[in-house]
Parts: sequence; structure tokens; C-alpha cells
Amino acid sequence: MADSVIRFSEPDVTDREVEAASRALLSGWITTGEECLALEAELSEFVGVEHVVAVSSCTAALEIAVAHLDLPRGSRIGVPTWTFVSTAMAAIHRGLVPVLLDVDPDTLNVSPESLAAALDADGGLDAVVAVHFAGVAVSESVHRLCADAGVPLIEDAAHALGTSDFRGRVGGVGTAGCCYSFYATKNLTSAEGGAIATDDAALADFARSFRLHGLSKDAWARYRPDAKTLGYDVVGDGLKANLPDVLAAVARVQLQRFEDMQARRREIVTGYRNLLADAPVRFVPGEADPHSADHLAVVILPEGTDREALQSELQSQGIGTSVHFRPLHTFEWFGAQGYGPGPTGVPVATAHTERALSLPLHPKLSDDDVSRVCESLCAAIGAADPA
Ligand SMILES: Cc1ncc(COP(=O)(O)O)c(C=O)c1O
Repeated sequence: MADSVIRFSEPDVTDREVEAASRALLSGWITTGEECLALEAELSEFVGVEHVVAVSSCTAALEIAVAHLDLPRGSRIGVPTWTFVSTAMAAIHRGLVPVLLDVDPDTLNVSPESLAAALDADGGLDAVVAVHFAGVAVSESVHRLCADAGVPLIEDAAHALGTSDFRGRVGGVGTAGCCYSFYATKNLTSAEGGAIATDDAALADFARSFRLHGLSKDAWARYRPDAKTLGYDVVGDGLKANLPDVLAAVARVQLQRFEDMQARRREIVTGYRNLLADAPVRFVPGEADPHSADHLAVVILPEGTDREALQSELQSQGIGTSVHFRPLHTFEWFGAQGYGPGPTGVPVATAHTERALSLPLHPKLSDDDVSRVCESLCAAIGAADPA
């Protein structure tokens, strides 16, 4: 019998999520309402932060955080080049200019040196978005540099629900908002979705209004059975980026199952690290980080590896892989807009551009799957069989 397919990512959905979605669908209220409010309360307790506002994506959460800064158009925002396009696109939508920062070779998180140079350069930076890449929190020095320069720091935590750092769980404490993703490949998924976490009540109020066209009251506030008033005002501009109750109901079950799913992720990542200990690949980060959310299992391939050929070979054996990320400075459009690297350039990101490979990682992988991925990877890069 042919080997079964090992997907790069697969949503871990059970009958419990299906029942929750059905219950919400049949409840008589399917858009943002009680389920969403409950999810927000549960997430804020889980993260340990005062306010969580659920939205339709991490991209929307980032756009809300940027909009709340209310910076003039043309303001400069530091963004690691090693990220998904939406980290920069959210700022670009608000008329800001991304300055692309280099990354640390071990974590591929924004490098404090690159950030410091951009803050000190002519024009400086007016804000920063830092990405907790693959579930590993950015270093405390990134927070300190921004604080010392008086520059707001937004956290792109698309990979970092459950990650901890010097503050406890990553969740917007002391920053200008922490943005999560519940996209299909994330460690908690509602298919699409996201949230912004903050200890700033003004940002939370802004987010509630901005996610719904800048309205002073959402539909739930106006039409629920005990609503006092049907009226609303427009208090600013905004998006249509609310999270419907059907998806919030799914996310609530995922949150209940989160610790179990994370424990399995940790086992899988540990398995990869053990089995590939003697392989000519380097893990990101080199040493396992006990505070990581283990969102991705990224390895750096030997220099000169034809990554595309290697991915095709693995695919032919039924093994899916991915690349996180193609750095922003390599996209033609960014260059054409004049969105380029800051003063240090991006030598580390450039050196890693063709070498990062994300291995399959989701809680439904078996130990046999992990062994098969390691064996196939070693064979494909011409290394000895794994330990
Ligand atoms: C680092 C990073 N930021 C932001 C996003 C955007 O998330 P969403 O799809 O929820 O908008 C992603 C999505 O993969 C991501 O990897």
C-alpha cells in the first residue's frame, strides 16, 4: 500500500467543534454576538490581559493597531523583512512606509542591531511591528529599544498564541496591541479569524468600533433581545472585520483543547529535534525554547541545497512542506514602491532566503509520520539515516 499523505498542516477539528458550530448556526444569531463575547472573555483570561477583541483575521487586527496610532501618512514603520506580507500590508493600507529590518540568524526574529540602527538613522522610525516568528518571542531588548526611543511597538503574534516572554504570556501588555491569527494553519483555528489583545482600554474600545465601520454600536448591542436602543453613530472610519459567532464557537472549543494540542506539538517538535540531531540541518532556533508556542518546525538547509527540488522530492513521497518566509525585500512590488531595507541592510535574511524549510507540524501527526519525514528529508539531502 502506498504511504499515506503527511500534510504540512491540517486543522485539528473534532466533533466538539462541529457541534459548537451547529449550535451557533441553529441558535438564531449567527454573526457577532454572545459566542464572540464569550471567546473574548476566555481568551483574555487565558492570555492574562485585560481586553481581547475578536476580529476576522490577524491582518485586520494589525490594521486596527496601526490605525489606533493615528500616525500621519508617510510615517515610517519598522517591519522585519522575514514575515508574511500582511505584517507590512496592514501598515501600507494606512499610508505608512515600511522600513524593512534584518533578523537574528538564530531565531529569525527582528534583530535588535538592525532595529537600533533604524531608530537612530535620519528619519528614524515612528512605530515598529515585531513578529514572534514560529512561536518564539522577540527578545526583551526589542521592547527596551522601542520604549527608550518612545516608539510604539505592535506585536504580530500570528504564530504566538501561548508563547511566553519576560512579561508572561505574550498578549499586548506594555505594547500597542498584540495581534493573533486563527487562520486554518494556526495552532488555534476557526478557519479564518483573529484577535487583538491589549491592556489599554482606549485601544480595545477603538478596536470594537473599527472592526465594524467605525460604528458606535454593533448589531448585537442594537438588536439583542434586551437592547435598549436601536440607534448608532459613526465615530470614525473602519473595516468590516468582525468575527461571526459560528466561527467564535469553533474557536472556543479550540481554546478548551489548546493545551492538549500544544502538548502534542511539543512532542512532535522534540521528535524532529532528536531524530535530526546528526543531520546537516540547523533548527530555528538552535536550542529548543521552552516558552515557544511551537508554531512552526523550521530548519535551515545546507548551503547550496536546491530547496525547490527537495520540496518536490518530498511531495512525490506524499510529504508536504512549506517556506516561512520569502522575505519582503525579495518581492518586486515592495522594491517598486521604494519599500526597502533600513540602514543595516538585510544580509542575514538574504543569506537564509533560499535555505529555510518548514516541516509538517500539526497535532494529528503520528510518531511514525515524524520518523518518515526525517528519513525522507535526510535521504533527500544526501545525509545518513536519522538517529
Ligand atoms: C507572521 C504573520 N502575520 C500575519 C499573518 C496574517 O494572518 P491572517 O491570515 O489571520 O490575516 C500571518 C498569516 O499567516 C503570519 O504568518
